[in-house]
Amino acid sequence: MPETFTVFINGQPVTAGPETSVAALLLRERMVNRRSCAGQLRAAFCGMGICMECRVTIDSDAHGLGCMTFCRPNMKITTL
Ligand code: FES
Repeated sequence: MPETFTVFINGQPVTAGPETSVAALLLRERMVNRRSCAGQLRAAFCGMGICMECRVTIDSDAHGLGCMTFCRPNMKITTL
């Protein structure tokens, strides 16, 4: 796997590395993961697969845990 590669967050290209989690990438890019049922902005909290606050759509799979998923080349991440 290349040292760095491109992933897409809401269609925008971003450089990432193979040991970067989706949640870490979103924090680096100062983005939130989703909205709660009440409309509040939500982002990663626990970073270890327990709180479910980091859910995003990853390559068309809804509710993927960003903190438990490493970036891959050409991955498509959809927030909110
Ligand atoms: S940050 Fe808590 S489950 Fe991902």
